[in-house]
This record gives sequence, structure tokens and C-alpha cells, in this order.
Amino acid sequence: MGFDMKICSIGAGYVGGPTMVIIAEQCPEIQVTVTDVNQQRIDAWNSKNLPVYEPGLDEIVQAIRGRNLFFSTDIDKAIKESDIIFLSVNTPTKTYGEGAGKASDLKFIESAVRRIAQVAKTDKIIVEKSTIPVRTAEKIRKILASNTHGCKFEILSNPEFMAEGTAIQDLKHPDRILIGGSQTESGKEAIKTLSEIYEHWVPKNKIITQCLWSSELSKLAANAFLAQRISSINALSALCEKTGADVDEIAISIGADSRIGSKFLKSSIGFGGSCFKKDLLNLVYLCEYFELPEVAHYWNQVVTMNEYQKHRFSYLVVEKLFHSLAGKKIAVFGFAFKKNTNDTRETPAITICQDLMKEQAQLSICDPKVTPETIKRDLDGFSNYEIQTDPYVAAQGAHAIVILTEWEMFKNLDYKRLYEGMQKPAFVFDGRNIVNLQQLRTLGFEAYGVGKPIAG
Ligand code: UDX
Ligand code: ADP
Repeated sequence: MGFDMKICSIGAGYVGGPTMVIIAEQCPEIQVTVTDVNQQRIDAWNSKNLPVYEPGLDEIVQAIRGRNLFFSTDIDKAIKESDIIFLSVNTPTKTYGEGAGKASDLKFIESAVRRIAQVAKTDKIIVEKSTIPVRTAEKIRKILASNTHGCKFEILSNPEFMAEGTAIQDLKHPDRILIGGSQTESGKEAIKTLSEIYEHWVPKNKIITQCLWSSELSKLAANAFLAQRISSINALSALCEKTGADVDEIAISIGADSRIGSKFLKSSIGFGGSCFKKDLLNLVYLCEYFELPEVAHYWNQVVTMNEYQKHRFSYLVVEKLFHSLAGKKIAVFGFAFKKNTNDTRETPAITICQDLMKEQAQLSICDPKVTPETIKRDLDGFSNYEIQTDPYVAAQGAHAIVILTEWEMFKNLDYKRLYEGMQKPAFVFDGRNIVNLQQLRTLGFEAYGVGKPIAG
């Protein structure tokens, strides 16, 4: 079958995979190839067990894989035949050299772009999908200039705003699509070409076009604002616990103000995920680089507050369990950084489990989607934990249950049954405020939440 257009993604991770799947689903006349250097990942995309867990993703992939959706490690072939190439590689925080611990490591972007420069024989549109520092397009342009076949490249910024766990819903019904490009004739033409892909399913009035630098910075700004909301409500949660106020009630009363809005005000053990911390640190680095120390300090405080919140929760557990966890079994419910994902990048569960294990607690960890291999990788260096699939087994003989991810299954457990199998006094520490603390107290538990009045 002939296709009207061929596009590909370099990078088949949490961003590249689901994004390209939805484009393929919505645009049957476009051939979509998702490529990666990681053979195992591509094999998984071509199998029954996809490497990414997202509600709804599996069904779509099984239905259209082989129609116009392909997964491959033949990156050169995909580059050569594609009209549009999406850069969806990882951009982690740099761990070495200049900017270590803050700046984005662009080595994966650079190697992908070098490959394009080397093998491309026709003109192409290059789309920045990964989150990158503002003015990255300038670097990409310089590398692409080394192409010896006289190809013309147009660079666009098209950041992805979907959140994990709701990726399919977010991709199918985005609040907006942002496309940044050069304000030249060819730049505008490229913006139009990309826009037409999204117009297959996104209303035109939701497609925002901007200059490259605004679009690149918008992604960092959006994540910084979202993370700041969480740190703000979490900062208040500490004050709630001291004063007898309830942070969920504060969220309702302030969220009713339409200028503030009700979303993203759920107090928790802190934000995790691959984006927020990385993007905040990247923003801080950019501000320092451009000699704006006050601005850098302002955004850095959002990260500081998040670290505080994670350790504050660990400390609450230690304190309430009589300042001694040595040898005590603690059931950990949830390890993913949020519900409906198998992703554990920057999950607060890592910090909290490590804190508890440093106090010599014996953990029994239970998560419905995170694999034992992932937990073992994340808790490397520790041995005082086990992994269980059944929460009742995890809590058997435990002194406390610690809820770290808001999975539905943990809301609906038989807490009376859990209580009966536990050591007494039995504790619940709800790091996501998903269970009814009063009801648990009636069952006999000592129950604590985040930003909740402590029972007197
Ligand atoms: C985020 C952005 O939301 C998304 O737009 C961007 O494209 C990528 O980064 P993601 O990290 O996948 O998405 O998930 P998100 O829903 O934003 O949650 C991030 C973290 O914040 C999670 O750990 C979540 O539990 C926490 N969170 C979120 C809260 O603690 N309280 C809230 O009210 C919302
Ligand atoms: P994200 O959450 O941003 O999608 P992931 O780590 O899940 O990040 O996915 C990024 C993917 O990009 C990884 O599977 C990685 O193997 C792939 N990748 C990194 N560099 C290259 C490259 N030069 N060519 C092809 N794939 C790459």
C-alpha cells in the first residue's frame, strides 16, 4: 500500500511510543515508524507485552501494528524514507562535567541528529518532541549543516504535554498542541505541514503556533508551574498538620476560585516522574547560565520543598512507630510514581523506601504494575525488602501499612482483614490521602494522612 507521507520517531519510550501510536491511529494514510537503538524495547513493542503500560494503549497497538504503524531498530532506513522525523529520545539530567545535576544531557539528541545529518538524502522536517532547553534548535541546526547531500532541514518544536497514566486520553483530547518554528516562509510551511497531521483529530483552534524559542521554553514553563502547584499545596500540608486544618479542604476552598482552579492541588508525598524535577533543574540551570540568580533560586525552591515532603513523610513513620523501625515489617502499597503507570522514574517511593530501610525496617512492597526487576534496580544496594503481589500477604504480621501510590486497588481493600493480620498497634500512613482515616480508626488502626488533622 502506498502512503501519502512517511514519518518516524527516533526514540520509542514513554513519549515517542504512545505519541506515534495515536498519530498512526488517527492518520491511516501516513506510515509511522517508531525506532530505537534498544533492540529489547523494539522487540517488546512488537510483542504482546508492550514496554509501556498505559490504559487503552495495548488495544490500539494490537489493532494497527503492521497497518501503518511499525516498530524497528533500522533507524537509518526510517530516517532516509521519512518526511518528518520526531526526536523523542531521553534528555536526562547531566550527571557529569559542566552543569552536572542540573543541565539537560543532550548527548542522545546530538547523536540522533548526527545520524540524521549523516544519512539523510532528501529534505526533512525535524521535530523536537523531547523536552529540551530553550535554544536547542540552534544546536540542532548547526549539526545538520554537516549534511553533505545538500538537504534542507526545517526544525520545529512540538513539545508533548501528555501525562503518564492518562496518555491516550491526553493525546486524543489535548488541551492544546504547540508548534514552534522559524517565522520564515519555509518555517511557516513546515508548521502548516505538522499542523495538518494534528488537524486529523484536534480542532484547529487548539493548535497554537509560536516562534521556536517560546515553544521550547513553554514546555519547561508548563512543567515548572504544575510542579510549583504541588509544592505549594504540600508546603501547606505541613502547616495543616500543625494547626488541625485539612489540606484537602483547603484545596476545595481555594480551588473554587476560578483564577486558581481545582486541578493539581492534591497533596501527596511529593511529585515524581521523569519530567518535573528534571525540567525544574534545567530551568534553574538556564537562569543561572543567564545570570538570573533570584529567578534560579525561586524555581529551585520548588524542588527543595519536594525533597522535604518526601523525607517529612518518612520521618512521620519513624516517629509514630516509637522512633524505632529496626526489624519491624512495613507493608508498602504502591511503588510507581502515580497510578496507572509502570514507570518509577523519580518516584517518591524510592526515597521513602530507602529512608525506612536505612532505619532497618523490613519492607514488603506491593505494586500492581511495576515489575520486580524494576524495584530491584531502583533499590540497588538494599536487601531488607521483599516483593509481594498480594497486599494481604504483604501486610501479614506488619506493624504498618504505608500507601505510596494512589492505585484504585488500595482504596478498595478489606482493611478489617488487613488489621486482623497485623501486629498491634497497627498503623496506616496514607501518603496519597485515598483512604478514609476515620473509618480506619474505628477499625482500630492508628491512621495518618498528609496534611490531615492528627487524631487527638
Ligand atoms: C507531567 C505533566 O503533567 C505533563 O504535562 C508533561 O508532559 C510530563 O510531566 P507526568 O509526570 O506524567 O506528567 O504526570 P503528572 O500527572 O503530572 O504527575 C506528576 C507527579 O505529581 C506524580 O508523582 C503525581 O502523583 C504528582 N501529583 C500530581 C501530585 O502529587 N498532586 C497532584 O495534584 C498532581
Ligand atoms: P521518554 O520518557 O522521554 O520517552 P524514555 O527513556 O522512555 O524517555 O525513551 C527514550 C528512548 O530513546 C529510549 O528507549 C532510548 O533507547 C532511545 N534513544 C536514545 N538515544 C537514541 C538514539 N540516538 N537513537 C535511537 N533511540 C535512542
